[in-house]
Amino acid sequence: MKRLTVPAIQRRKVEGKTEEPLVMLTAYTVRMAQLLDPHCDILLVGDSLGQVVYGLPSTLPVTLDMMVAHGAAVVRGSYHAVVVVDMPFGTYEGSPEQAFASASRLLAETGCAAIKMEGGAAMAPTIKFLTERGVPVMAHVGLTPQAINALGGYGARGRGQEEEAKIASDAKAVADAGAFAVVVEGVVEPLARKITETSDIPVIGIGASAACDGQVLVAEDMLGLFERTPRFVKRFDDMAGRISDAASRYAAEVRARTFPGEEQVYLPKP
Ligand code: KIV
Ligand code: NA
Repeated sequence: MKRLTVPAIQRRKVEGKTEEPLVMLTAYTVRMAQLLDPHCDILLVGDSLGQVVYGLPSTLPVTLDMMVAHGAAVVRGSYHAVVVVDMPFGTYEGSPEQAFASASRLLAETGCAAIKMEGGAAMAPTIKFLTERGVPVMAHVGLTPQAINALGGYGARGRGQEEEAKIASDAKAVADAGAFAVVVEGVVEPLARKITETSDIPVIGIGASAACDGQVLVAEDMLGLFERTPRFVKRFDDMAGRISDAASRYAAEVRARTFPGEEQVYLPKP
C-alpha cells in the first residue's frame, strides 16, 4: 500500500463536506505506530508526549529534539498514514523564519509529511510562509494546550459570543493562510459544526463533537492506558488494568519460582 499524502487528505473535503470521516490518533513510539498505522489516515506525533511519555506537567517543556526522536520512530513504524509532528512551544512563535528552521529540521530529520502548530490569526503569516516554502501545515485552534498559562485551564472553549467569534475567525484565518487541515480542540458542538460547514479544509475534532470532518484522540487515552478522563475521551480498552494484571502474574510466578519454566530454559547440547 502506498502512503497517503497531504494533498490526498486535503482532497477528502469536497464542497464543504467529507464523505468518510478522517481517522487520526497520536503515536510516539515505533511499536504503537506499527499497530495503529493500518487503521489511521493520520498519525500525530503530538507534544502531548510531554505528559504521556515523560510525566511533565504540561506540553511547555517539550523540546524539538524530543519531537525529532519520536517523529523518526513513528515514521519508521508506519507505511500507510500521513505522519504529522507537533512543533513544540517556543520553537515557532518568534518569527516565520524561526518556524521554518524548526519545521525543516522536523521534515528532514524524521521524514514526516507535515507539521502542526497551535494558534489562529496570529500564526497565519507563519503558516503562509511555511506552506509557500514546501512545508505542509496542520493548524490547531480552540483549546490550545501550549497557551495554558494564558487560557487559565483546559476547559471547553467557545462558550460566549466573543470567544466563539474569535475561534471561528481563527479557523478561517489558518485555512486562508494555506493550512491543509485544522484541529479544533475542546469547543462546544454548535461552534464545531459551524466551523466545519464553513471551512474548505478538513476540520479534525478532539472534544469537538461528531460534527467535524474527522476525529483525533491521544492513543493512550483511548486505550485506557493514561490516568486521565476528560469528558471527550472514550475508553476503547482498559490497557492499564491489563498491564497491571500481567505484571502481577509475572511477579507471582517469579516469587513462586514457576517462571521460567521448562519451555523458557536453554538446554546444553546433548
Ligand atoms: O499533542 C497532541 O496530542 C495534540 C492532539 C491531542 C490534537 O495536539
Ligand atoms: Na499538541
